[in-house]
Amino acid sequence: MKAKERLIVALDVDTMEEVEYLVKELKDEIGMFKVGLQLYTSMGNDIISYIKEKGGKVFLDLKLHDIPNTVSETVRVLTKSGVDMMNVHSQGGYEMMKLAKETSIKTALELGMKPPMLIAVTILTSLGDTEVAEIGYIKSAKEMVEKLGILTDKAGLDGVVCSPLEAGLIKNVCHDGFITVTPGVRPVGGDVGDQKRITTPGQAIKGGSTYIVVGRPITKSENVKEAARKIVVEMEGI
Ligand code: C5P
Repeated sequence: MKAKERLIVALDVDTMEEVEYLVKELKDEIGMFKVGLQLYTSMGNDIISYIKEKGGKVFLDLKLHDIPNTVSETVRVLTKSGVDMMNVHSQGGYEMMKLAKETSIKTALELGMKPPMLIAVTILTSLGDTEVAEIGYIKSAKEMVEKLGILTDKAGLDGVVCSPLEAGLIKNVCHDGFITVTPGVRPVGGDVGDQKRITTPGQAIKGGSTYIVVGRPITKSENVKEAARKIVVEMEGI
C-alpha cells in the first residue's frame, strides 16, 4: 500500500460547505475520509454518497455498541450505503462482533459489493489505567487492549482502532494482516491540541500502524493539500 493510501483524514466538521472544500482539496492526496458522529448525525447517509460520488473512500467511525441483533442490523444498513471501513466496540462482545462481520460479508455479497473492512475499538485512548479501574476492570489499560485485540481477531474482524503506542503490541498477538488504525498522530512540530499520547506519522508507521488518522493538523491548516502532502512525505521517510 502506498503511504498516501494509509492516511485517513478526520472530517470533524458539520457543514456541507466545509465538507465540499475538504473533499475537493484532499481526495487525491489521501486514502480515506473519516466520518464520525458529529458529521453523520448532522448529514446522515447523504454524506457517504457525496464522498463516494466524488471518488473518495469512507471510514464510518460510529463505534457501534449494542446487543448483537441491533448492531448486526445496523451494519447491514451501513454496508448497503457503501462505506469502505466501519467500526464496532469490542466491549460489545464476541457474539456481537462475529455476527456483525458475518452480516457485512453476507450483505455485500448479495449486492455484489466488496465487503467493508470491519474493525473494533478496544479501549478508548482517552482512558488510562485510573479510568479503566474506575469502570471496574482489574487489568491495566494495556492488558485490556491486548485481550480485546485477541478477541476481535478471534471474532473474524479485520483489525482494531488503537493508540499508535499499542499498534506493535496488537501486531504481535493478532494474525498477519490484522490492521491497526491509529489516531493521536501529529506531524513534527505540529500543534498537539487536546491529544495526549501522540506520535509523529513516521513513528506511527514504524511502530506498526497500518492506517493513521489525522484531523486538525490537516483540516485546520491554511493549505490543506500541502499539509496532507507533508504528512505523506513524513510517512514515506521512515
Ligand atoms: O484532530 P485530531 O487529529 O486530533 O483528530 C483525531 C480524530 O480521531 C478525531 O476524529 C477523534 O475523535 C478520533 N479519535 C481519537 N482518539 C481515539 C479515537 C478516535 O482521537 N481514541
